[in-house]
Amino acid sequence: MTSSWLKRILGGLHRRLRLLAVRATHPSARFGSKCDIRAQFDLDVFPGANIRFGPGCIVDRAMTIECYGSLDIGPRTIFGHHCTLAVRESLIIGEDCLIAELVSIRDHDHRCDDLTIPFREQGAVVAPVRIGRNVWLGSKATVLKGVTIGDNAVIGANAVVTRDIPANAIAVGVPARVIRMRD
Ligand SMILES: CC(C)(COP(=O)(O)OP(=O)(O)OC[C@H]1O[C@@H](n2cnc3c(N)ncnc32)[C@H](O)[C@@H]1OP(=O)(O)O)[C@@H](O)C(=O)NCCC(=O)NCCS
Repeated sequence: MTSSWLKRILGGLHRRLRLLAVRATHPSARFGSKCDIRAQFDLDVFPGANIRFGPGCIVDRAMTIECYGSLDIGPRTIFGHHCTLAVRESLIIGEDCLIAELVSIRDHDHRCDDLTIPFREQGAVVAPVRIGRNVWLGSKATVLKGVTIGDNAVIGANAVVTRDIPANAIAVGVPARVIRMRD
């Protein structure tokens, strides 16, 4: 009884210290109260970028974020370990989402029209990504530029989402297709 009480207190204290450390090392990003940001959080914030995690978000180990634009994550959204978010312009993720481990979300591609110069010198094609609230992205799902996923949708493990997915849909596969509606 006493030891579980002590564990809870120490766990809460540890979470607060981690949050303090993350806020101190990334002053330009905003983290709401009670965010739980775990080890190996790798955040590259470029000048002019705008990052906000709503209160109560949980970010498991080794998340990588590269942000030149605007990243807005709603309250209580949870990320599994080793997720990647790459933002040139805009990524919005709603509240109460469940993002499983190894998910990758990016709002751009490298241009690849010119055969005479390397990809890295060709610039990017950028289109904002918007993920609604209470969306569940299965393990290793990838969401590509320009996609909107509606509220309460489910995206299966390993899916590659290339087109919009409506609210309440369950979509799987590569490219992701709706297999049924939850309602
Ligand atoms: C998407 C998901 C929720 C669907 O579950 P479900 O409704 O029980 O679906 P079913 O098992 O009835 O499968 C329906 C069809 O979709 C296919 N399917 C299901 N999940 C799939 C997936 N991830 N990729 C490709 N096809 C899939 C099934 O093979 C089946 O095809 P069939 O009708 O040709 O036989 C589940 O399959 C899934 O991917 N869950 C993610 C698990 C995960 O990553 N958890 C992380 C913890 S947060």
